[in-house]
Amino acid sequence: MAMLGSMHTPTAGLKTARLLLEPLRRSDAAEMVGVLGSADLYRYTGGTPPTLPELERRYAIQTVGSTNPDEVWHNWIVRRRSGGAIGFVQATVTKEAGDVAWLIGIEAQGAGYAREAAAAMIGWLASCGVGQVRAHIHPDHVASRRVAEGLGFASSGMRDDDGEDIWTLTTRRPSENLPDHPSPTRP
Ligand SMILES: CC(C)(COP(=O)(O)OP(=O)(O)OC[C@H]1O[C@@H](n2cnc3c(N)ncnc32)[C@H](O)[C@@H]1OP(=O)(O)O)[C@@H](O)C(=O)NCCC(=O)NCCS
Repeated sequence: MAMLGSMHTPTAGLKTARLLLEPLRRSDAAEMVGVLGSADLYRYTGGTPPTLPELERRYAIQTVGSTNPDEVWHNWIVRRRSGGAIGFVQATVTKEAGDVAWLIGIEAQGAGYAREAAAAMIGWLASCGVGQVRAHIHPDHVASRRVAEGLGFASSGMRDDDGEDIWTLTTRRPSENLPDHPSPTRP
């Protein structure tokens, strides 16, 4: 279960061995329209490559955040440490769980970036008190399933309203008495 107090923690920038996860900015649309430009990316999720005005509108909405006070959106652009954007990861956090998604552009796929970026996101969510993480994955989407399995997700055996399998990961036991969020004043 996610913890109430930490739900509204602002999205943090994150680093991994090869990647930077930067909180989404509206200005990322110009670069991301290229990353999101292949129709193959939408094979299992539906949708089509966005135009620049569409992506600018989407990012304007996403950076403002959810209008529902009971959920918080976290959006990161995934960059190689050398700078170029290669995809995004995102999480919608409620008191119940964090629903996560990942996308890596066609040219950067197959190098382990999705798993590396998602691991960093989930580690951060866990540090914020999100104990239950879910991913919604099309039953035929082997690559996304492999990402989830590699991170320790297990299929819940349930499907959502879109016919996607719900995979779950428990980041800690509910009984563990973890702090609401790491405090800067703690030693
Ligand atoms: C799913 C996706 C994010 C994977 O990105 P990626 O960076 O290529 O994934 P990784 O390199 O981290 O690979 C993770 C695992 O998937 C496997 N994999 C990657 N592409 C694959 C493919 N086309 N077919 C089968 N397995 C594949 C890898 O071999 C690896 O498995 P392993 O650890 O057992 O070797 C990417 O394909 C994508 O963005 N797809 C479009 C958007 C999308 O559908 N997102 C998922 C929404 S739930």
